[in-house]
Amino acid sequence: MKSNNHYFFGGVDTVELAKKHETPLYVLSEDIILENINTLKKCFIDKYDNVKVLYASKAFLSVAMAQIIGREGLGIDVVSGGELFTVMKAGFNPKEIFFHGNNKTQKELEMAIDYDIGQIVVDNLYELELLIEILKKENKTQDVLLRLSPGLTNIDTHEYIITGQRDTKFGFQIDESLKNDIIPRILSEDRLDLKGFHYHIGSQLFDNETYLNAFKLIFDLIEWTKNNYNYSTEILNIGGGFGIPYHEDIQPLDIEKILSEIMDTIEKEFKQANMTRPQVIIEPGRWIIGPAGITIYKIGAVKSIEGIRTYAAVDGGMSDNIRPSLYNALYSADIANKYNQEKTHIYTIAGKACESGDILVKDINLPEIETGDYLIVHTTGAYNFSMASNYNRMLIPAVVLVSKGKERVIVKRQTYEDIIGRDISL
Ligand code: LLP
Repeated sequence: MKSNNHYFFGGVDTVELAKKHETPLYVLSEDIILENINTLKKCFIDKYDNVKVLYASKAFLSVAMAQIIGREGLGIDVVSGGELFTVMKAGFNPKEIFFHGNNKTQKELEMAIDYDIGQIVVDNLYELELLIEILKKENKTQDVLLRLSPGLTNIDTHEYIITGQRDTKFGFQIDESLKNDIIPRILSEDRLDLKGFHYHIGSQLFDNETYLNAFKLIFDLIEWTKNNYNYSTEILNIGGGFGIPYHEDIQPLDIEKILSEIMDTIEKEFKQANMTRPQVIIEPGRWIIGPAGITIYKIGAVKSIEGIRTYAAVDGGMSDNIRPSLYNALYSADIANKYNQEKTHIYTIAGKACESGDILVKDINLPEIETGDYLIVHTTGAYNFSMASNYNRMLIPAVVLVSKGKERVIVKRQTYEDIIGRDISL
């Protein structure tokens, strides 16, 4: 939204936000979060029987975010004790928590069992044995899903965020050992109630073929398990990964179309095999929160190298957004206080970390930049705050939630005292 040449987000003037809360500043629009959740309700939750959406909390998590997700009636996926603790502190219904991860520690598993969470997604044999041991010790039982690696060969996304190929640290390979040892082992174990299967093929995906191919590979196993052990899968969790456009020239994914193609295929396969369709779960993270976030920075140094480029440096960088350095991720940006001005200059936006690779956006058209301008980087809601670090002892920015012209801080900015808070002096 444009007004007075300032960029407005969630009905709030971002220049005023920057002045009030200092920069860098993460801003999340509650309106966009709710709009995205409502789309999922319309084209998935309310459209089909027996389906569920889990929010993948790794994309962005704070107590307030978990509260929004709980209030909206979604479940949540966590992958660590830290995420689990946050979600529990937010008052989340433990039965709606699913615990993923390829190396849950004994402490984390004990914590999950003590909280009595809904599902533990068992990733490997080591975890399976450890879980059984803990359950015996505590005289408890647990619902579990088995994480499978579908073994796909062609997944179109950055190699660091693919998980569904054969060579992966995640999940059980679909092989003879799974079929003949692991599945019967779980089915015969009184302490475990196998509810079904989970897989996740990767992140930032736009191509529905990948989802459909993965499902077909998993369905073969589901059918095989039915035929060989008379086991009926109650839950099929097909993971997240739905892509979002980080740039104007990328077409947004048609989530309704993708989900209806996935559901049609799933329903058809189960029907043809004369089997009851299990509950279908999706677990989007980025798709819900990514477009709901921006980051505001203040421009400091502007440096021109004759015949090469002009750098404009911001007061944050890879410590609050590692994605450009880690995945060559592309972002779009604007000058918050010159939003309606013509984009006459080309800049490279540099972070302030002591790394040449700390470049947030390369060669972007913007109005002429002056020191003191505010830069907005768009679509930073997912995997920015959650991957932030204190590299160079930079402070992790505050998070402000905006909605319909109102704002409230949901995560405070770190302070220098926080930074040394755990240091012990000699
Ligand atoms: N479910 C599982 C089991 C996952 O591993 C993930 C993401 C998701 C769901 C959610 O994926 P999403 O819908 O957000 O794409 N740091 C990377 C992304 C890593 C994703 C890891 N797993 C990035 O910044 O692109």
